[in-house]
Amino acid sequence: MDELNALVDGAKQAFEGAGTPADLENAKALYIGKSGRITELMKGMAALSVDEKKTRGAAINVAKQAIEAALNARRQAMAEAELQSQLKAEALDVSLPGRRRGAGGLHPVSLTLERIEAIFGSMGFDVAEGPEIETDWFNFTALNTPEDHPARSMHDTFYVEGGTEAAPHLLRTHTSPMQIRYAVQHVKKHRAAIDSGAGMPEIRVIAPGRTYRVDSDATHSPMFHQCEGLWIGENVSFKDLKVVFTDFCRTFFESHDLVLRFRPSFFPFTEPSAEVDIQFQSGPLAGRWLEVAGSGQVHPNVVRNMGLDPERYIGFAFGMGPDRLTMLRYGVNDLRLFFDGDVRFLSQFQ
Ligand code: PHE
Repeated sequence: MDELNALVDGAKQAFEGAGTPADLENAKALYIGKSGRITELMKGMAALSVDEKKTRGAAINVAKQAIEAALNARRQAMAEAELQSQLKAEALDVSLPGRRRGAGGLHPVSLTLERIEAIFGSMGFDVAEGPEIETDWFNFTALNTPEDHPARSMHDTFYVEGGTEAAPHLLRTHTSPMQIRYAVQHVKKHRAAIDSGAGMPEIRVIAPGRTYRVDSDATHSPMFHQCEGLWIGENVSFKDLKVVFTDFCRTFFESHDLVLRFRPSFFPFTEPSAEVDIQFQSGPLAGRWLEVAGSGQVHPNVVRNMGLDPERYIGFAFGMGPDRLTMLRYGVNDLRLFFDGDVRFLSQFQ
């Protein structure tokens, strides 16, 4: 009997010691397989008497059942452990947020352009767009900047195929050509009224868009934005320019705590001309003069190229830098960040 108990104990230990299902099946074969220890004991009964066979056989069976029970318990424990580790490996935290597709947003400069359009729109300005590939005529000549004018050298640009030598195509260096394009359309529409002496409705337009120059550093990018403004009527003066631009800046920066300075300057297409500087009276930029636009009274030659009589029609134009305005509004000090396309930077403006 002790021998059978020892056998059962040995089997239990072997089963416990089995690390994998394969080990367990090997251990099982040792004890209750075809040539296992139990089978051997059964065979060993052949020489016994009938009575002895009964008691011995019953005892061996009890031992065999104990071994089978231990085997099943171990199999179940292994399956359970396997299941647990699988559940752990495939653990799913249902409280984590799902993977959503990020919502897009507008580029900070686009946000500025939208603001500019809304503000000037509220002052009765139309919004016009024009081509980025311009002709020499619209970009320079019609703006009183003939071929050998020294001012052209400040507007070095990229020439593109498609024009002629006499009329080359180029990437526009400013949005000022839109003064001519828009005015010519406007004048065409109102030609009859103009010729009859009744006069035309005023031209009031802004023209935002991309412009290009051979220029690149922290405050200049070869591609940048401008927004042109033009107001032509019979009685539009520099005073109106001051009022409109001051109003615009205060609305744009949501502050009355800033002053404007019109600093005499030169542009071939305006006379007199002025750079517009602003100065914040408080905040991080307080005290510094910051240039935000070029401006002036539209030159008589330009008014003529619009198809109008400069003796009767007069007005002002300005060209401002939305990129610069965006930098000031958000406190960004490197213009190139706007055009690097880094989403971590750009998504901060949403
Ligand atoms: N086009 C000028 C520039 O790019 C700015 C300007 C526009 C000046 C309109 C006067 C009037 O520098």
